[in-house]
Amino acid sequence: MALKFISAEEAASLVKDNDNVGFSGFTHAGCPKVVPVEIAKRAEAEHAKGNSFKIGVFTGASTGDSIDGALARAGAIKFRTPYQTNKDMRSALNRGEFDFFDLHLSQLAQEIRYGFLGKINVAIIEACEVTEKGEIVPTTGVGITPTICRLADIVIVELNKKVPGKLRGIHDLYELQDPPKRREIPIYEVQNRIGLDYVKVNPEKIFVVETEKDGEGGGFAPLDEVTARIGNNVAEFFVAEVKAGRIPAHFLPIQSGVGNIANAVLGSMGSNPDIPRFEVYTEVIQDAVIDMMQQGNISFASGCSLTVSNEVLQKFYDDLAFFKNKLVLRPSEISNNPGLARRLGIIALNTAIEVDIFGSVNSTHVNGTKMMNGIGGSGDFTRNSYLSIFLTPSTAKNGAISCIVPKVTHEDHNEHSVKIIVSEYGVADLRGKGPKLRAIEIIEKCAHPDYRPLLHEYLSRGVKGHIPQDIYACFAFHQALQETGSMMNTDFGKYQKS
Ligand code: COA
Repeated sequence: MALKFISAEEAASLVKDNDNVGFSGFTHAGCPKVVPVEIAKRAEAEHAKGNSFKIGVFTGASTGDSIDGALARAGAIKFRTPYQTNKDMRSALNRGEFDFFDLHLSQLAQEIRYGFLGKINVAIIEACEVTEKGEIVPTTGVGITPTICRLADIVIVELNKKVPGKLRGIHDLYELQDPPKRREIPIYEVQNRIGLDYVKVNPEKIFVVETEKDGEGGGFAPLDEVTARIGNNVAEFFVAEVKAGRIPAHFLPIQSGVGNIANAVLGSMGSNPDIPRFEVYTEVIQDAVIDMMQQGNISFASGCSLTVSNEVLQKFYDDLAFFKNKLVLRPSEISNNPGLARRLGIIALNTAIEVDIFGSVNSTHVNGTKMMNGIGGSGDFTRNSYLSIFLTPSTAKNGAISCIVPKVTHEDHNEHSVKIIVSEYGVADLRGKGPKLRAIEIIEKCAHPDYRPLLHEYLSRGVKGHIPQDIYACFAFHQALQETGSMMNTDFGKYQKS
């Protein structure tokens, strides 16, 4: 049947107050960019008339400003899941303007299918191709696209002419069966393909909006000294692990998290001649991966999105023939699948907000209260990897905050899952160590030297038990920060002992 072409404004009018809307993409990559802005305008117009207009927003991960920024600023959100990184969205959710459900990214598609989160009414998908048979080819990010396309009543396709149609073939789109019919996922090697390169939906429910929008990817911050030292520490640790036979000589697939530090660590691995060519099985493919594929340091990359700067994206499009058989984009329930992380022996590299001396990690909540971004895929990989590594600078805010604390104020990953912690000072190896030895290792290898005496003082308060955690003083660092502006002013003397 002939496709129905409509304007972005007409598309926005198909979305009703209280609808749950699923968006394609993962990070800014692959997200629709014009219809959500029209939905935000519509919400503002309805609010001006005194009418209610709010929607539930379901995405693969974070999005570009055209979704999270525009909708948050318009007060158009009633519910948001599973992850965000937008400044306006973050402020609105921390003000409690809507409910935010922070979820392991691998779980969202199945939780939608299980009916845990309500019905998806509308799916809005950025595509580089859509056919009259109902074949939709996503762009640079997949996320939950197959599931929302299948379940939504209406699928609005933003056909973005800025994305080359020859991108078709880069995706491997596969949806899991739900229990009790779920079978193994037949991926045994990073480069295996198991699905289609398009999503098939009933063409009757498709509406197409033609667009010409650039990607929303910013660049990465220039490498600073701390980040470079973290990167070198990771690279040297890997070299030693290979020498000791704990990582196979041909290496294992790498998952690397979001942000500057993760990007820099990959760069350090690439420039270390003792690290062999390796593969990547990750969620976000960042700039460093693309560079390293071109330089021959990375042989294959499997991910959920191309979360790259616009400059690197152009480089990728220009050299598409080179990348086509070396890179695959999958839905988040496959890219982040815990079973595959275990099977493939993934080495997981993620960044922490703070870690405690016993090995627990806070990835999400500053001071235990303010949401930063969300757990993202860090839990999918950390718990199930061959080796889970957390990266953190030893301090934040010019030394006023120690990122190594007596107890984390929010616990996303605990000592049962966290194996290695790396700061600019060194590498703490927690494998096979009980709580007290872990604490000494983390303080001596990773904490900033200025904070080491305070952390040792906490440890030596003589609390009995397996974990010498002092319930009266465990948040003394955070209290000092709140009261004086610096954790350096911690005074354990004022606390009674547990
Ligand atoms: N207390 C208060 N603020 C802290 C802090 C702490 N212990 N540690 C860091 N910060 C601040 C930094 O100062 C910085 O603030 P700014 O934006 O005002 O400069 C901000 O938090 C971000 O820190 P930064 O060091 O730049 O880290 P990042 O950009 O690499 O992000 C996380 C770190 C943890 C927020 C980010 O990695 C994340 O969201 N992780 C969870 C999801 C995830 O791991 N996904 C990957 C799976 S593939």
